[in-house]
Amino acid sequence: MMDKDAGKKRAAEEAAKHIERGMTLGLGTGSTAAHFVDIVGALVADGWDLRGVPTSEATRAHAERLGVSIIEPNETTIIDLAVDGADEADPSLNLIKGGGAALLREKIIAHAAKKFIVIADKSKRVAALGAFPLPIEISPYSWALTVAALRRTLSENGFDGAPLELRAHDGAPVKTDGGNLIIDARLGRIDDPAALEKALAAIPGVLECGLFCAMTDMVIYGDEDGISIASA
Ligand code: A5P
Repeated sequence: MMDKDAGKKRAAEEAAKHIERGMTLGLGTGSTAAHFVDIVGALVADGWDLRGVPTSEATRAHAERLGVSIIEPNETTIIDLAVDGADEADPSLNLIKGGGAALLREKIIAHAAKKFIVIADKSKRVAALGAFPLPIEISPYSWALTVAALRRTLSENGFDGAPLELRAHDGAPVKTDGGNLIIDARLGRIDDPAALEKALAAIPGVLECGLFCAMTDMVIYGDEDGISIASA
């Protein structure tokens, strides 16, 4: 059986080759991005001048523990390189993200970055997105109205009756770092992710969905034997 963690680490090591001294780095969230944060911490310990903009409170705490200088997103408009994981990636480098509930902040940072590199073990590579339930971050204000609008939009886009679940943990709704809610939508195959991303973004109350289309410069997949790279 493939050791997924070895693949995640290899992908992070390959992405680290794109780091240059003096860079401001977007630091992703999740078990794969954590390997990249470890490498950034090691470079800082070696005297490299690097700063990190974290995409979650968990990543902030991890980076701080390693001595990485944290830049608040409001303190910079320049992110040289962002590196993050993904839940699925298709051959056109479209992604599903948000399994770790950090998608809104991740998307803001990925979109702002001069270069956005995704790192993943090979199990994340798919022919078409959608087997992974699509995370959708919504405002807690009148969330029932937002979910009703979501159902209408999904139906208009060919996903009539798709099961929607409010993400919960130990019986309580999961709150994102920004205090929002997550709806997981079981859509199955998504033939036109860009059109769906646009349609979902038009719903008031939807803050972001986990589709990241036309945003990724490179996906680095790792497994026990090595890496493979898909570039835009
Ligand atoms: C966090 O919200 C997600 O977008 C993660 O990047 C994604 O879930 C991948 O996580 P792992 O690297 O832990 O698989």
